[in-house]
Amino acid sequence: MTALTLSTAAAPGLRADAIVIGVAKGAKGPVVAPGAEAVDKAYDGRLADVLDTLGAAGAEGELTKLPSPAGFKAPLVVAVGLGAEPEKDASFDAETLRRAAGVAARALAGTKKAAFALPVADADAVGAVGEGVLLGAYSFDTYKENGKDSKAKNGRAPLAEASLLGGKPRDAAHKAALARATAVSEELNRARDLINMPPNDLDPAQFAAIAQSAAKEHGLKVQVLDEKALAKGGYGGILGVGGGSAAAPRLVKLSYTNPKAKKHLAFVGKGITYDSGGISLKPAGHNETMKCDMSGAAAVFAAVVATARLGLEVNVTGWLALAENMPSGSAVRPGDVLRMYSGKTVEVLNTDAEGRLVLADALWAASAEKPDAIVDVATLTGAMVLALGNRTMGVMANDDAFRTTVHETAEQVGEPSWPMPLPEHLRKGMDSPTADIANMGERAGGGLVAGLFLREFVGEGITWAHLDIAGPAFNEQGPFGYTPKGGTGSAVRTLVRLAELSADGELD
Ligand code: BES
Ligand code: MN
Ligand code: ZN
Repeated sequence: MTALTLSTAAAPGLRADAIVIGVAKGAKGPVVAPGAEAVDKAYDGRLADVLDTLGAAGAEGELTKLPSPAGFKAPLVVAVGLGAEPEKDASFDAETLRRAAGVAARALAGTKKAAFALPVADADAVGAVGEGVLLGAYSFDTYKENGKDSKAKNGRAPLAEASLLGGKPRDAAHKAALARATAVSEELNRARDLINMPPNDLDPAQFAAIAQSAAKEHGLKVQVLDEKALAKGGYGGILGVGGGSAAAPRLVKLSYTNPKAKKHLAFVGKGITYDSGGISLKPAGHNETMKCDMSGAAAVFAAVVATARLGLEVNVTGWLALAENMPSGSAVRPGDVLRMYSGKTVEVLNTDAEGRLVLADALWAASAEKPDAIVDVATLTGAMVLALGNRTMGVMANDDAFRTTVHETAEQVGEPSWPMPLPEHLRKGMDSPTADIANMGERAGGGLVAGLFLREFVGEGITWAHLDIAGPAFNEQGPFGYTPKGGTGSAVRTLVRLAELSADGELD
């Protein structure tokens, strides 16, 4: 992982491979962003003209490399576009900085050390640039012949060191922002690693073992229910889904407690380590990326560990509902009825609607502790991808005010989300002649139908929100901003922020 520090060094004397500066889109061409004054001065105040000559406009995502001016120890200047120049007296917003830092950090793969001279007006901006650097520098090379070795022949090793200029290394708020960015980004990148791991190396037991060792490292309580314990406890949903696989399911409970906590949050993650669809097998073309179907569990895992590392004054319980959905002679069939942990019976009409079955058991288990709120995260439905595209998560809830809070929190941390309804009329589509409910309803509004199903397994009176991250969890297109190809770590930052709000008594 990239090492991140705050530095007060002056740009010219810096021993680094590159200096990153910001360039914004002004009314009359590119404008050099604050933070790059020393660089501009060394170009005799003509840096904007130089950038203009090179074709830089300051557009978001744009990257321009130029040789350093005379007298600079670092040989390279990297100018990253920030988009439109803010209004007078306003500063660049956090997400703009996060994305720009990410673009630059990714472009600097293969170099050892870079200094970021981006406009950091306050501690929030320091945190945003820090996150952008650490998240943008991420790469997944575990399975490349030479790994992350700096001489890797299959790819360039990620940027090793980054120092942020313009921040204040002695200022408590700046230091805290950097520490927060480091903890959150490192755990988020760990979630990405888990998502990117091939399903032959990450089955439910292996995921559970990783959670156990992280729990030990960070002083969390961990409890793992294996297939025997799940059978004894009556977890029919998780056992039903996991029954077709040679790799048995697990339910992992991770508890972080703080003696000063006044609130208790429960996070529940869908952890299908591979979703083949089961007997209702997915056709070719729909299963190549289904190792990502544990992204919700990865997000919950990362968020709980990050919460512990930050020492937040809130109790957080993470529930990872882990199973592999495979077809076999022991697999659940369309037509089977499962008796769920809550006691309700479910007629399985489509074994590919498996996420809601494992979540139902985990939601009921989470409810038993009567937390102040439950948030579940799941790559739940293709319908949500059709509705919102592949960068936006859907937010559903049994409480409109909480749905608004979760949506606004997600937006605030740079995770696009959109509030979705739970229309009552869609419930009857799941009526079953045999069981209490079927695991499938109308095709229209499939994401909302899934949300309505989950709602039935939330304990009476408990505030609950559901994040459908089927779109943003896995990026099949090219990298953008600080988002790499593959596992994105979607929802981690929303969950951590919710934990912070709860610790600060701002979540009710
Ligand atoms: N894991 C999938 C949803 C998914 C789709 C995630 C695309 C990421 C990208 C889920 O288990 C699933 O198969 N859902 C079905 C439900 C249907 C059978 C009711 C779907 O959306 O088609
Ligand atoms: Mn499925
Ligand atoms: Zn699935």
